[in-house]
Amino acid sequence: MTPIEHLLWHPVCDARQVQEEPFPVVLLEQALVLWRDQNGTVCGLHDRCPHRGASLSLGRVCHGQLQCAYHGWLFAGQGDCTLVPALPHFQPGPTQQAKAVAVAERMGLVWVCLDVANAEQAIWPTFAAEWNAGMRKLNAGPYDVATSAPRIVENFLDMSHFSFVHDGWLGEAGHSEIPDISSQESETGFKITQSQVWQPNTSALSTEGGMVSYSYEVNHPYSAVLTKIPDPQSGVPPGYEESIVVCILPKSPDSCRVWFRMAVADFDADVEDVLAFQDKIFSQDKPVLESQMPRLLPLHAKTESHVASDKASVAYRRFLQKLAVTFGVC
Ligand code: FES
Ligand SMILES: [Fe+2]
Repeated sequence: MTPIEHLLWHPVCDARQVQEEPFPVVLLEQALVLWRDQNGTVCGLHDRCPHRGASLSLGRVCHGQLQCAYHGWLFAGQGDCTLVPALPHFQPGPTQQAKAVAVAERMGLVWVCLDVANAEQAIWPTFAAEWNAGMRKLNAGPYDVATSAPRIVENFLDMSHFSFVHDGWLGEAGHSEIPDISSQESETGFKITQSQVWQPNTSALSTEGGMVSYSYEVNHPYSAVLTKIPDPQSGVPPGYEESIVVCILPKSPDSCRVWFRMAVADFDADVEDVLAFQDKIFSQDKPVLESQMPRLLPLHAKTESHVASDKASVAYRRFLQKLAVTFGVC
């Protein structure tokens, strides 16, 4: 049976990094190579030549096709071998084919699905704000983290660490209580609504602290979307809720690369300032994330201790169990 991880779309790199030369990436412990063909389309193959097993990423791009560095076999974007230079009149066939992956560009990132035949049905993270042309879109990251993708998602869903890890930023010491949250199953995963926390600054314009409400949506094992529910006094028009999606490349079971795709309604803030804020927040999370043991997220209900304010992480662990996720969990 195909593992669920192969039926997901995973971010692998910033789209600008892939040009007309081989670009190696690692996804789910598989070495891959990407390049742009002459139409500007990103192509992707397993980084292994079918001839003698050399890394295709050592090669070069020749008229939009990837040429192996060892004997010069040439591969088109779907993996078909088009030339064996030692036998220029030979018509290469299926046994000379390299193994392709499905590739797409979205949200400024390149995404890969390992199961080419089923890529059409593979799961994308939901990010409704992405299609709201009125919002300003930014990518923060990448951040390399020595832990599993599920530990990172769980941290993203967790508000009870704000007043400790992000004291003075997303939370405040002395305001650590988390009101009861509500978790509901959805058709494709689950939603958390009414997630409230005290923040020292509720918006760019506020001068004092107050309670803010977030909602979360999870429909992909290695991603989640957070939406800030606007304060009625903020003047944010309907449909302009700010949101962030966490996009994770699981390189191995316990190492990842992370981006945050943000849709913000603030058009005046400098990009550098918005990204610097996100860098600061993640620099606070990273040492805690990397200290958590085991790095793989334990799914057995009794392995770690859960209290009522951990409803979101309990719902997340159940969701991973339901999907039979095996990569990054224990
Ligand atoms: S190993 Fe790639 S062409 Fe021979
Ligand atoms: Fe955090």
